[in-house]
Amino acid sequence: MRKKIVAGNWKMNMTPSQAVELCETLKPLVAGSEADVVFCVPAIDIVPVVEAVKGTNIEVGGENLYFEDKGAYTGEISADMLLDAGCKYVIIGHSERRDYFKETDAIVNKKVKKAIEKGLTPIMCCGESLEQREQGITLDWIRMQIKIGLQGVDAADVAKMVIAYEPIWAIGTGVTATTEQAQEVCGAIRECIAEIYCRETADAVRIQYGGSVNAGNAAELFSQPDIDGGLVGGASLKADFGVIANA
Ligand code: 13P
Repeated sequence: MRKKIVAGNWKMNMTPSQAVELCETLKPLVAGSEADVVFCVPAIDIVPVVEAVKGTNIEVGGENLYFEDKGAYTGEISADMLLDAGCKYVIIGHSERRDYFKETDAIVNKKVKKAIEKGLTPIMCCGESLEQREQGITLDWIRMQIKIGLQGVDAADVAKMVIAYEPIWAIGTGVTATTEQAQEVCGAIRECIAEIYCRETADAVRIQYGGSVNAGNAAELFSQPDIDGGLVGGASLKADFGVIANA
């Protein structure tokens, strides 16, 4: 039985002091959740957020990392830095990073491997554009992202990681994928993992849906057989996240 996982992706929102305030608001609202609850926050917010959620059921994650251990990579953040600051998770390959910062599947693969090597749980994102969906190539595209993203990753490590399916056309648009659409792709991702690895690995990996998840649609989405929770953007910055974490 897979434990659900509900993660907030704060993106480039919340100054350190605002972040602490938001934690104080959300702590009691997510305290009763039966899911794993994760706040993925901007790098500068990690230390104050880890401090603010100490002793609660909330884990903290980064929104990105660099695949080198250390050195002359101005502006980047390493897996060791995230770990030492108290992170357990890290989002890798979000569509915004793929789009604005030109991250390829090959880069995503290097980052996933570095996260695993260091002991962080990657939340590896995938998702198609509206154009790709209309062309009918959604499942081909997603399968390619999964296959390249996981190249050289052991089955035992895949079993412990998280994959987030986020259709790009549903992110920040208020247009949520239908429950059927979300389940279809999450199910296809699980089948893809079964093909590359085995049934046991596919049954263990947790697959989230992301894209305009809100307090009204979370329960139905999360009740689907292959949807093990959500990766939540806008609604993770307000009290609605408490409803979603309990959905
Ligand atoms: P929204 O929930 O704001 O659509 O964002 C989804 C997302 O990108 C989470 O990573």
